[in-house]
Amino acid sequence: MYHLIKPFLFQLKPEPAHYLTVKLLRFTLGMPLIGTWFRNFYTIKNKNLERNVFGLTFKNPVGLAAGFDKDGKYYHDISSLGFGFIEIGTVTSRPQDGNPQPRLFRLKKDKGLINRMGFNNEGVEAMVKRLKATDIPEGLIIGGNIGKNKTTPNEKAIEDYTYCFDLLFPYVDYFVVNVSSPNTPNLRALQDKEPLTKLLNHLQAINFKQQSPKPLLLKIAPDLTDTQLDDIIDITKTTKIDGLIATNTTISRAGLTLPSEKISAIGNGGLSGLPLKDKATEVIAYLRKQLPNVAIIGVGGISSPQDAIEKLEAGADLIQVYSGMVYYGPSLIKDINKAILKNQK
Ligand code: FNR
Repeated sequence: MYHLIKPFLFQLKPEPAHYLTVKLLRFTLGMPLIGTWFRNFYTIKNKNLERNVFGLTFKNPVGLAAGFDKDGKYYHDISSLGFGFIEIGTVTSRPQDGNPQPRLFRLKKDKGLINRMGFNNEGVEAMVKRLKATDIPEGLIIGGNIGKNKTTPNEKAIEDYTYCFDLLFPYVDYFVVNVSSPNTPNLRALQDKEPLTKLLNHLQAINFKQQSPKPLLLKIAPDLTDTQLDDIIDITKTTKIDGLIATNTTISRAGLTLPSEKISAIGNGGLSGLPLKDKATEVIAYLRKQLPNVAIIGVGGISSPQDAIEKLEAGADLIQVYSGMVYYGPSLIKDINKAILKNQK
């Protein structure tokens, strides 16, 4: 079905196409019989897909990556596409507009996207209001991906993350600390050993004061050197976080077939989709070797069931998809789950 509407969507600019897609989804799901048929069509129910990771039971290991539902507006509808979990955010403590448009670009031939959205979101208070008012679909795990505002200096970043953490705590199942987006100036400096250890220790201290602490994960960039990855591995151990998400988008433009003048014309931003696939898989494999007992969510360039299996075989416990769904449609989720079942036999 997506193949029928994709040519039309691809005539539109990528950002309006995104909002139209979620509106169309909501409209379709709202139609009595068609909505039910749609849900059943995309959902695979099978106990063998279940995963127990960082103390939570996922009905299947395929999730929607952060950035698609930045404000927690669409998870109810999107869950009908067969996801086991949805990560909402990145949300910041105060609302912010993000970067000027255009800020999202399709690289059709390379099956990639470049974005410099810059954490456009309505702020954590608006997200919490919405979460309070909307029930969570049965069995769906919700992750809360938190960041800092552009105008908050790095020295005060802990305050932003703490505010988001505190407010979201009752409403999400796990947390992700995002210090790896390339689109907030200087954010990735928070991946350095000292500030990152301080930030994660601070959040863990609040977390462990709760009756039932929530799993805390860190999302990392694919552009870290081995030495930086070794630091991340150390920090993971010392701060006792529950897992890592590898990876966010890359600032590299390696391997693109798009002519360099066109790449330059697009400008800054994080590259996702197929061109990121192998790099993300390498990072997952590197982490898994040295962290046999820490959960890893693998994300980056998953565009086919085979790509998903590759991530799992590299050591991911769970996987997430974003750009692949833009190019191949929501049936990718179902096809991945089918392939996982087949691969388990
Ligand atoms: C993202 N991504 C992202 N990640 C994050 O942690 N917070 C965010 O707000 C966003 N925003 C965002 C917007 C857009 C338009 C895209 C394409 C991506 C990164 C995303 O979650 C994922 O890590 C990468 O896109 C790699 O996965 P795919 O897209 O190759 O499957």
